[in-house]
Amino acid sequence: MKKILSVLLAAMMVVSLAACGQKAATGAQGGAAGAKTVKVGVCIYKFDDAFMTLYRNELDKYFKSKSNADVTYEVTIMDGKNDQAEQTNQIDNFIVQNYDVLILNLVQSSGAATIMQKCKDANIPVVFINREPSEADMSANNTGDYAGKFTYVGADARQSGKFQGELIADLANKGDLNGDGKLQYVMIEGDPENVDAKYRTQFSISQYKDKAGLEVDQLLDQVGMWDRAKGQQIAQDALTQFGDQIEVIFCNNDDMALGAKASIEAAGRKVGENIYLVGVDALAEAVQAVMDGAMTGTVLNDHVGQSHTAVDCAIDAVNGKSLSLYNWVDYVKVTPENASQYK
Ligand code: BGC
Repeated sequence: MKKILSVLLAAMMVVSLAACGQKAATGAQGGAAGAKTVKVGVCIYKFDDAFMTLYRNELDKYFKSKSNADVTYEVTIMDGKNDQAEQTNQIDNFIVQNYDVLILNLVQSSGAATIMQKCKDANIPVVFINREPSEADMSANNTGDYAGKFTYVGADARQSGKFQGELIADLANKGDLNGDGKLQYVMIEGDPENVDAKYRTQFSISQYKDKAGLEVDQLLDQVGMWDRAKGQQIAQDALTQFGDQIEVIFCNNDDMALGAKASIEAAGRKVGENIYLVGVDALAEAVQAVMDGAMTGTVLNDHVGQSHTAVDCAIDAVNGKSLSLYNWVDYVKVTPENASQYK
């Protein structure tokens, strides 16, 4: 009996020990306690930007989906408030705190050289997004130990400009409402320091001329800083000054185009009948406007594809993989025919 009891006791101890062991193992797996933490610093040029808000939310969401039992991505997102000095401080702080990787949407692309040097000195990988540093800055730093540790993820703004030009050139009347063989247009630009603004302004018109085979008359070209209220004001003033002469309003982005749309409606003009209007980004509201005939077209600036690529690059860099210097994501032309796919 005594023997049986001691065997039973021993067996019970083994069972409880095993249970303990199992419990400890489950804790480590189930919670993130044993997981490695990767600190990701993200700088956005300003939070108050319609497109970059979609971009940053998707970036955060996608990072969360990548955290698992082995690794937790701790993402800190800073608002640069459109002030390069403020943003440079934020980057300095990330560097001092030994962040593992940075994703940077610079306030001024021209600030890239200084910032790259700081990150290079600290040997922290960087994924530049949305505001492309100059080719010279990119290639100058792509040498020695830092080569493969930084990249630019974006869309080729020349393509978006060309698509805007085609949206007008492909209309039956090529946008030439008054039939004088020339396109009278207004251009509303984003921040001119940004290549997206520069290329969209330039390539929308050159592609229009190529495809339509017509000349153009620029009535007005003004900077609206990507902002809806400014786009609305510029369009309102242009409509007052040039009235029926305006055949097309080209906007470097949708937020400004939505502002222009409000002014076009207030002036009693009708898109598709006596004026045309194009933007870029495919914001939900703009896609709806294209479907309703209140905008002629827009161009999808794929924030989902770009943010996912940026996250994938950041994770690759943390894992020691070499990055290619550029990662491009395509734009897509959005017309009344295909708009419902982009809603
Ligand atoms: C977008 C704009 C945005 C800008 C910010 C552009 O690619 O089209 O909507 O304001 O990026 O840099």
